[in-house]
Amino acid sequence: MNTITVCMKQKQINIKYDEFYSFDELPKNDQRVVQEAKKATKSAYAPYSKFRVGAAVLLENGEIITGSNQENAAYPSGLCAERVALFYANARYPEVPVKTLAICVFYDNDFQKIPTPPCGNCRQVMIETEFRYKSKIRIILYGTEKILVLNDVVSLLPFCFTGDVF
Ligand code: THU
Repeated sequence: MNTITVCMKQKQINIKYDEFYSFDELPKNDQRVVQEAKKATKSAYAPYSKFRVGAAVLLENGEIITGSNQENAAYPSGLCAERVALFYANARYPEVPVKTLAICVFYDNDFQKIPTPPCGNCRQVMIETEFRYKSKIRIILYGTEKILVLNDVVSLLPFCFTGDVF
């Protein structure tokens, strides 16, 4: 009779994040970035979804770059706010690490109460940015009644694709 040695291990990933319940509770530096993300929703071009996303990127040099979603009649040709902001920041300052990224959504005449987490494509671009500069990016997901703050992008995308060959 064959015996099988079981070596299987069950593992677990814990994700740590902070939850705030109002804008005023946020550290002052974070408030600045969120304010810019909120302003950026005004420049969204979202005639199809009416979902106006604003993203603000705080760079290590203190500059804040913003972006908003830009839609297109050919739907897949549009781009999310996070990628507009990150790609522009990286193109404008290729040597400067990204410290913080704040995201918020304006829909139906108001900011969303509960934060909207970024899509998978944006997470992939965010994680590449984190690896590229070897510097953690603080993520702020803003809602008027709940704000989530994560210390890095890895927390948002465990088991991410890196292109590494093993
Ligand atoms: N959108 C973003 O800007 N960021 C995301 O992470 C997800 C979705 C945009 C794309 C589209 O213009 C609209 O929100 C509805 O999906």
